[in-house]
Amino acid sequence: MNSPDNYAVMGYPIHHSKSPRIHALFAEETEQNMSYLAQEVRPENFTSAVNTFFEKGGKGLNCTLPLKELAWEFATHKTPRAQAAKAVNTLILQTNGQVLGDNTDGIGLVADLKNNHGVNLENKRLLILGAGGATRGILLPLLDEKPKSITIANRTVEKALQLAKEFQQHIHACGFDALENHQFDVILNATSASLSDDLPPLPENILAENGICYDLAYSNQPTAFVRWGIEQNAHKSIDGLGMLVEQAAEAFFLWRGVRPSTQDVIDLLNAHR
Ligand code: ATR
Repeated sequence: MNSPDNYAVMGYPIHHSKSPRIHALFAEETEQNMSYLAQEVRPENFTSAVNTFFEKGGKGLNCTLPLKELAWEFATHKTPRAQAAKAVNTLILQTNGQVLGDNTDGIGLVADLKNNHGVNLENKRLLILGAGGATRGILLPLLDEKPKSITIANRTVEKALQLAKEFQQHIHACGFDALENHQFDVILNATSASLSDDLPPLPENILAENGICYDLAYSNQPTAFVRWGIEQNAHKSIDGLGMLVEQAAEAFFLWRGVRPSTQDVIDLLNAHR
């Protein structure tokens, strides 16, 4: 057999990454001859590490925290969704030798909602909590789903206003207390509060009946936001494990031209929480 094509995920830290396992399962299922390793790379070493990786024949990279903005700067060519996200999580070596940057986070979120949870966003009132990099990364794919409205609520209102202005597509922006007396069909938590088991200060009754709560973060235990969703009687209150697998599947497709099935991988990761 020929030697495998090489891929990797770079991040700092990286030891916790589930990506090598996910891509190994995808490769096995689709019979792709490839390897996928995790590589710990400090931000100051990012450019040289990426150059070395491709010089040695590497075919594609995933970049995770805190390297997504650096990957965006590295890529000379970017997809529109990566351009808008100002962050790149997937680098693809092209046949002409150029490296294309894409961001598969938003499309991964939409795929998880639609395909795995049966949640269609068309004509829905969406609320996004947080106005940082995670929110920026998902806005364009969310807008493509033609929701009725998108509201961004953030602790620092100015950042939400800035983001809304930048996307210029009738996105509302406000602070958390201004959510009082409004209702939303889907609430997405894109704050980093989950990482410290914290929760933005949310008014009661902002989730519509049969509404959906989705935390972009995931954890072995239900996150504070997933617990909040359950308390609010959400129809579904979900964390971002499925999004992780779906963004990986999209990257895999970009590299290999083959779309792996994701449900078995999600089930397997869920079983090992
Ligand atoms: P990321 O790339 O994960 O989005 P970020 O760009 O640092 O990280 O953004 C973090 C987001 O989480 C911000 O919207 C932040 O609010 P501020 O802009 O006001 O800082 C939000 N955030 C973090 N901790 C929070 C908390 N405890 N409550 C509410 N919002 C929080």
